[in-house]
Amino acid sequence: MKEQLATIRAQALEAVASAEDSAQLDSVRVQYLGKKGELTALLKQMGKLSPQERPVMGQLANAARADLEEALEQRSRELDAQALEKRLKDEALDVTIPGKPVRIGHKHPMYMVLDEIKDIFLNMGFEVLDGPEVELSDYNFTKLNTPDDHPAREWSDTFYLDEDSRTLLRTQTSPMQIRAMETLSLPIRVIVPGRVYRKDEVDATHSPMFHQIEGLVVDKGITMADLKGTLNAVIKKIYGPNTVTRFRPHHFPFTEPSCEMDIQCHKCGGVGCPTCKGEGWIEVLGAGMVHPKVLRNCNVDPDVYSGFAFGMGLERLALGRFKISDLRLIFENDIRFLEQF
Ligand code: DAH
Repeated sequence: MKEQLATIRAQALEAVASAEDSAQLDSVRVQYLGKKGELTALLKQMGKLSPQERPVMGQLANAARADLEEALEQRSRELDAQALEKRLKDEALDVTIPGKPVRIGHKHPMYMVLDEIKDIFLNMGFEVLDGPEVELSDYNFTKLNTPDDHPAREWSDTFYLDEDSRTLLRTQTSPMQIRAMETLSLPIRVIVPGRVYRKDEVDATHSPMFHQIEGLVVDKGITMADLKGTLNAVIKKIYGPNTVTRFRPHHFPFTEPSCEMDIQCHKCGGVGCPTCKGEGWIEVLGAGMVHPKVLRNCNVDPDVYSGFAFGMGLERLALGRFKISDLRLIFENDIRFLEQF
């Protein structure tokens, strides 16, 4: 039995030493020290020994068991340390590998143009306002002197947000003329850039959402000469000092008189070409003297104050400025396009 014990002890210690992971170590533990383990089985046979042999063998067996337990414990610590070492190695970051470059974006070309325009107006003493895109019909149309039967009010043209046509997505930035006069003290000099919405199909020159810049000046003694002088100065800043302009009579409900401003086609010099659709001129904005009724709607006395207003399309300005031929490029946000600016 002594020899048997020595053999089992030696085999067990050997098995512990060669266990390569904690699972193997566990099965060694079970194989020798488990309920049906080899050492356990041997200990169970102690009862058969003579009373003299029993204490001697008992001591030896306990010593073997203690040795084995200690060996198991020590091997387990070794294996844990090895596993940790391996994980640290596997998961180590090589900080010397070059990083992936981060692509830095830049401002959208249309907003570059908007910033230029804001700067021009700020230098002329204007303020820049922001206004709601969800607007009351009252502000978008009624207070702007737009008759009840005006075609722009049609459901086919305007995105209404309720059945009784009281709220809508603004179709123009002009309602901000009303809000400016209602909230600011006179004199007023503001521009209001922002999104506007119309039920238009998308094509090279139309989009159901686009941007306008509204302008409003109200003071004592403002005349059509101020309108023309201001807008000529601004347009020459945008399109260059040699830009030729003209003002054409037009109609808007909220201005009287009303006009549209054209610039002479920079491509053909006014002769007519595809860029200007054979006209020789390109329309850039609508404008006019603020209608006395509109002033009165905002509690501004038209006998004391007068004003001019204008509205221009930002996309069209950006297209002209960068010689872009299709409006859709502005909205598609294709990086290959945007990177060129
Ligand atoms: N709101 C007009 C439009 O969307 C543009 C416009 C014309 C604005 C004349 C004005 C103006 O302020 O005086 O077509």
